[in-house]
Amino acid sequence: MSVRRRQRVWTMSARATQLREKDPNPVVEEYARTAPDYDTKWSFYIEATTRETMARLGPRPTDRVLDVGCGTGVLLHRLALSYPKAQLFGIDLVREMLAIARRRLPPTVELQQASAEQLPFGDEQFDVVVSCNMFHYIRQPIATLREMRRVLRPGGQLVITDWCHDYLACRICDLYLHLFSHAHIKTYRERECARLLKQAGYSEVEIARYRISWLWGLMTARSKKHGT
Ligand SMILES: C[S@@+](CC[C@H](N)C(=O)[O-])C[C@H]1O[C@@H](n2cnc3c(N)ncnc32)[C@H](O)[C@@H]1O
Repeated sequence: MSVRRRQRVWTMSARATQLREKDPNPVVEEYARTAPDYDTKWSFYIEATTRETMARLGPRPTDRVLDVGCGTGVLLHRLALSYPKAQLFGIDLVREMLAIARRRLPPTVELQQASAEQLPFGDEQFDVVVSCNMFHYIRQPIATLREMRRVLRPGGQLVITDWCHDYLACRICDLYLHLFSHAHIKTYRERECARLLKQAGYSEVEIARYRISWLWGLMTARSKKHGT
């Protein structure tokens, strides 16, 4: 790499770090901009991750299910079709993403603009908490997992799908985004994810690692809040 190019990369990376420290919610700006094209641009990825997450969710027909970082509501939509009697809720930081979800979803699905770190619900309200493609934006993973645990009933299930750092493509992407996107925080290896979940007080942790294309690898972690 030439000296000039190295300097440019360093300047961009330093700027991403400065912004990450300064801006409390860089995700808001990024997803407000991305929202109109999100579904089209990422259609393959959304379809694959929704399918893989649905396959591992298995709520009971009348469960209360919360999707944290629900984005444009694709997973909630799939849940509404498969489990018409389930009580469905979604939160997301970004108004523009939620507006698309609102148009897609039946009025019975409750949506709120809120942060995963501070969920706008009382304790033990949900049978299932799910989150898809969101966890790499979380700055305080243990506190956020504890917050998700707080709103789960005893015996309730947490299901998280996200990139898996055990795959090379994901590690390269993580590095690139760490340098150039101030919204991105971190992707995790399978064993780090298991450790975080246990530290946050979950039990029966099971993680499935899989590819959705020849290149791209993800994981879905399932775990339980202790109790019945
Ligand atoms: C890659 S999109 C995934 C959206 C959707 N779950 C899906 O799979 O298509 C990430 C979403 O997480 C949301 N998000 C990121 N950080 C968040 C946070 N701390 N609290 C709530 N939502 C957050 C973003 O606004 C965005 O809509």
